[in-house]
Amino acid sequence: MLISSKAINPNMNASQSAEPTDRPDRQISNQLILEASNVVAGYVDGVDILQGANLSVYEGELVTVIGSNGAGKSTLAKAIFGLVPVRSGEILFGDRNLIGLKPEQIVRQGISYVPQVANVFPSLSVSDNLDMGAYTREGNIAAVKDKIYTTFPVLAKRRNQRAGTLSGGERQMLAMGRALMLEPKLLILDEPSAALSPILVQDIFNLIQQINQTGTSIILVEQNARKALAIADRGYVMHLGKDEFTGKGADLLNDPEVTELYLGMGNFGKTA
Ligand SMILES: Nc1ncnc2c1ncn2[C@@H]1O[C@H](COP(=O)(O)OP(=O)(O)OP(=O)(O)O)[C@@H](O)[C@H]1O
Ligand SMILES: [Mg+2]
Repeated sequence: MLISSKAINPNMNASQSAEPTDRPDRQISNQLILEASNVVAGYVDGVDILQGANLSVYEGELVTVIGSNGAGKSTLAKAIFGLVPVRSGEILFGDRNLIGLKPEQIVRQGISYVPQVANVFPSLSVSDNLDMGAYTREGNIAAVKDKIYTTFPVLAKRRNQRAGTLSGGERQMLAMGRALMLEPKLLILDEPSAALSPILVQDIFNLIQQINQTGTSIILVEQNARKALAIADRGYVMHLGKDEFTGKGADLLNDPEVTELYLGMGNFGKTA
């Protein structure tokens, strides 16, 4: 069911009305792993960028967030990861409230975040970048690294090369690989396909699905709205710091209003 936060029931926010997907090919539990409700947050005193945003993720889900430039998608990702002060609302990860925790504490809860920009260390080798990703964890790092090299063979090939010399697609794979060194329960990806050629976009989307199929829940923020909704269990459309619509990926793709406003030529008919 497609839910418009505006139209259906003003007393029920989108997060509360979201249901896990019933796609038969997917193993999604009915257990919420993340529930962000009515989040108000901003960078500068007195300016709220998120104005009551909601986002929930069930264990095992791939949830896509789309919306116009400046709608607050990256800010929501950063708020979940403790990088933007949250002024009110709630962000629960399991039964733990994340608000007020620092990113390094949030990482220890099992969340990894790949930012939209500056997501690798250019002067370090691929191998050292992966090691840096594991700095907070103990255990058999070599085995995890081998698994990542299997998922991303190009990283294995370039393991001794400086990250700054990688192509855009390879760099994005390294950023994802680095985040996966923590074997997170929830992976937050902010525009992993930005500035990539169509073939590489498809590769990245395939990899995201592959990672999700191993049981990692994913929040995927994307400009590439159609493709991102097509692989999503559920999606959110953000506008002006709030979730304007939410529903199953396929329902959002087929909704006339969402299509007209957000999935038209170049995706973005509506400006923030
Ligand atoms: N570090 C910052 N300091 C102050 N304002 C910021 C900062 N980063 C973002 N903003 C503002 O917050 C608003 C939302 O930005 P955000 O980056 O979350 O949008 P977005 O939906 O991710 O957009 P895009 O699709 O362009 O990535 C914008 O008005 C932006 O100017
Ligand atoms: Mg952004």
